[in-house]
Amino acid sequence: MLPFHTLNKGKYFVNKVKIASEFDPSADLVLYQGNCLDLLFHVPDNFIKLVVTSPPYNLGKQYENRITMDEYLTQQEKIIKECVRILDDRGSICWQVGNYVDNGKIIPLDTFLYPIFASLQLHLRNRIVWYFGHGLHASKRFSGRYEVILWFTKSNEYTFNLDPVRVPQKYPQKKYFKGPKKGELSGNPLGKNPGDVWEIPNVKANHIEKTIHPCQFPVELIERLVLSMTNEFDWILDPFIGVGTTAIAALMHNRKVIGAEIMPEYVKIAKERIRLAEKGSLSIRPMDRSVYNPDAPKANVPPQIVKLGSNPRQLKLLM
Ligand SMILES: C[S@@+](CC[C@H](N)C(=O)[O-])C[C@H]1O[C@@H](n2cnc3c(N)ncnc32)[C@H](O)[C@@H]1O
Repeated sequence: MLPFHTLNKGKYFVNKVKIASEFDPSADLVLYQGNCLDLLFHVPDNFIKLVVTSPPYNLGKQYENRITMDEYLTQQEKIIKECVRILDDRGSICWQVGNYVDNGKIIPLDTFLYPIFASLQLHLRNRIVWYFGHGLHASKRFSGRYEVILWFTKSNEYTFNLDPVRVPQKYPQKKYFKGPKKGELSGNPLGKNPGDVWEIPNVKANHIEKTIHPCQFPVELIERLVLSMTNEFDWILDPFIGVGTTAIAALMHNRKVIGAEIMPEYVKIAKERIRLAEKGSLSIRPMDRSVYNPDAPKANVPPQIVKLGSNPRQLKLLM
């Protein structure tokens, strides 16, 4: 049994997912155990609508050997080139990174990786700051509380759906006070653009999605990218899929997924999480739940929004 906490009540289920262990376009999820490059070579050109990943940061975690910065960038470049080859012309790449730490000095990885993407003629659309309130407490510098997502597109014509990811207006009742629209609501009733600074709790010990993986994505972070940058039945790739978070976020919204993971124990957990989701037993922090604010307990009540689609694969939120 996985170490899920059942403190919160957000539970999801997905219909039976067809999982393949090698590239197979008839599967819902391709989950390859091994080096991502070996999988990517089998994927046809222009196949993927969204690449979203968090690569190893070369920090010497249990799944990586620390190498020089040059070696690290060369490895990353090979993988990024393959990702660009298999990316649809309307597709996006979201590369989520933090800092490489060298003897106490921080090196923001996105600044080193950006030239690789730029040399491949990708277009940077946003440098999204993912802010979270918890993490290691530094004593010789300010504690790090954000990482970034570099969002690139392959062309100027790209899929971007803003409506599914709008967030509540701060003042939803605000109206024009003069001019021809006087008295009408001034904001979009569907909500506002979430902006490029996202406050989303990271997956630390008491997060309901926590597994044994040391640096798991929160599902809601990936949901926002999936919903805005792809349409139903599009293919999404995570070359470093870890315990399958990208797969969960994609399958929840009727997308198909390809992922690679080098560590067998993480692949096993990814499969277990998918099976739990099929049974309706996977706990996930809902995308529209506000961040806990101890000074305003009323604001912490999760919005009771249940979105059910007519498509049988649509996820249901059981609150
Ligand atoms: C930062 S973690 C990603 C975690 C993931 N986002 C999640 O939510 O579980 C990077 C992952 O890449 C895996 N990895 C490292 N090198 C790899 C390679 N060459 N091919 C595939 N996976 C690799 C590591 O084992 C690790 O689980």
